[in-house]
Amino acid sequence: MKEKLLSEFERVFGGTEDARVFFAPGRVNLIGEHTDYNGGHVFPCALTIGTYAVARRNGMDTCRLYSMNFEDKGIKYFDISEIEYDKEEYDWANYPMGIISLLNEEEEKVTEGIDMLVFGNIPNSSGLSSSASLEVLTCFVCRELFEFEMSNIDMALLSQRAENEFIGVNCGIMDQFAIAMGKKDNAIFLDTATLNYEYAPIKLEGAKIVIACSNKKRGLGDSKYNERRSECESALASIQTKKDIKSLGDLSTAEFEEVKDVIGDEVKTRRAKHAVYENVRTLDAVAALKNNDVETFGKLMNASHVSLRDDYEVTGIELDTLVENSWKAEGVIGSRMTGAGFGGCTVSIVKEECVDAFIKSVGDAYLEKIGYAADFYVVDIGDGPAEL
Ligand code: GLA
Repeated sequence: MKEKLLSEFERVFGGTEDARVFFAPGRVNLIGEHTDYNGGHVFPCALTIGTYAVARRNGMDTCRLYSMNFEDKGIKYFDISEIEYDKEEYDWANYPMGIISLLNEEEEKVTEGIDMLVFGNIPNSSGLSSSASLEVLTCFVCRELFEFEMSNIDMALLSQRAENEFIGVNCGIMDQFAIAMGKKDNAIFLDTATLNYEYAPIKLEGAKIVIACSNKKRGLGDSKYNERRSECESALASIQTKKDIKSLGDLSTAEFEEVKDVIGDEVKTRRAKHAVYENVRTLDAVAALKNNDVETFGKLMNASHVSLRDDYEVTGIELDTLVENSWKAEGVIGSRMTGAGFGGCTVSIVKEECVDAFIKSVGDAYLEKIGYAADFYVVDIGDGPAEL
């Protein structure tokens, strides 16, 4: 991989002098969906697939960015002191541009241009956070090339701000945190209200994590993501007239049931219900895993999907077809949509000896119902960003 990236860099930028190779992972969330902007808990892990970069300082004021995933677009040029959102041609370059722009907001950390070639092996718009991966990667590349101090948690926070302020998606902290803080063979149990976190070893005892990509493309910006977020905020504001809480994540299910009538809107009540119950499911799921009770963990994953389908309404026919067929397949411990939803991927825990049959049966049923194929990935849990 390294050789291939370097030779591509040489072809695009002419020479590999001072060029260094970096990687940042993608992520999959095991449980705790749409809880991170509601002050709840999440349980994601970094993957061994992700985004690679070859980069160097170039001694100019201009940055030159090139993506092997969008070869036909060629090089994106921009001046470090004049960074503007690109509405037209270089959609992908907005992620690194957002990062560099924020890094230089208060003091100039990126003091000269960079040449950077990127290549991602996460399917785009799949819900495995190809965008957060590129954001954290760019931040990491700049930190290493310009040798400034910044913790990995601060890199995650800056990357989230880039997504919120530069890209315009009001995402929570989960993706950027999972990527910046990833640890091989561990999921991250994160309290998004405090950023307290704990690593939890994932011992699935003869089972594998299988991701199914629906191939229904989704862009967070044009999805109903921001709408869900404001529905939850509005439900919270109503509850706060009765109860002194900071976020929906502060409520137990019993407390929610007691106070929910104050919301006064059927749809918003269901949105808030999901946020509260999903947070509690996440706490229960992590406790189950600590007791080596993978069966209970799987059942909670299934319940998470039902809630995302019926109360939060972020699944759709593609994700439901994948998950509902996964539930029927032999050796499946649990299956649910993962990420923002509206297309993208599902995550399933499948007994090792059943993985091939699982891919075949779910793949066939999906193709028959939806009319195009899904892609399957048996994934491993990897580390956070690194220089290779
Ligand atoms: C996207 C966002 C995350 C999170 C998930 C849903 O991936 O970027 O912050 O809200 O959706 O759990």
